[in-house]
Amino acid sequence: MSTRDKITLATLRSMKLDRKPISMLTAYDYPTAQIEEAAGVECILVGDSAAQVILGHNSTLPITVDFLVTLAGAVRRGAPMAYLVGDMPYMSYHVNHEEAIRNAGRFMAEAGCDCVKVEGDGRLAPTIEKMTAATIPVMAHLGLRPQAVHQIGGYRAQGRDADAAERLVEDAKKLEAAGACALLLEAVAPEPARRIAESTDLPVIGCGAGPYCDGHVLVLHDMAGLADGPPARFVKQYGDIRSAIRAAVDGYIEDVRSRKYPSEEHFYKMRAGQAAILADRAAGI
Ligand code: KIV
Repeated sequence: MSTRDKITLATLRSMKLDRKPISMLTAYDYPTAQIEEAAGVECILVGDSAAQVILGHNSTLPITVDFLVTLAGAVRRGAPMAYLVGDMPYMSYHVNHEEAIRNAGRFMAEAGCDCVKVEGDGRLAPTIEKMTAATIPVMAHLGLRPQAVHQIGGYRAQGRDADAAERLVEDAKKLEAAGACALLLEAVAPEPARRIAESTDLPVIGCGAGPYCDGHVLVLHDMAGLADGPPARFVKQYGDIRSAIRAAVDGYIEDVRSRKYPSEEHFYKMRAGQAAILADRAAGI
């Protein structure tokens, strides 16, 4: 049972005004959401990174709206007070505005999200405008956009030369003007991230975007040490959950093989006298 007040966009905006950093993490299931809620994280993202970290794909592209809406509902039940962001999958908002609105509406109405997140540059402004007009709050994800990996040609940091940095700042202005309620900058150099964060009232969340953003987000599996392989440069690892689960699995296998598990405390006992009756019957008495 959560004891805190509901985190809203107004909460995030006033945290920005008060210069209080906003914490955000991904979650994809109910128990993890409960842990994050209890710890007091302000924002939870049900990211399309689920395609990679829980489904084992090599990009975020294969995930579907149905799947992420189901996960978002589970996360909402585990974290009722967090500001919940539903990530819109690849091709769920690109074909036309009607599809974008209908798919986004599912995150809001079926899963109980507080907003949806879309990846895009300035060219996505008309879509954001339509979604916003349909009462859907939209967080715009700029910089490294994993859904555009085949266009970018890899997962590379963005805004590293002056021209690219200026384009990023201009894109942010266009998406804000279109009605975005918050911005997320992934793998962006600190200088353009600072210019963006300082020139808007919108909360600006960084994911590997340096120290000047209003808040920061990491993929839970990366920061808690559950993902396979080395994390990206910007990830700080706070745990080694993979080793903890491995130790538990090793212990279980060892106990099964050595017959230490199950022991008496794990048995269901027959009601008093019933075992004797069963044995008598088996013996034909
Ligand atoms: O899907 C995701 O987890 C994300 C973060 C990397 C920001 O979009």
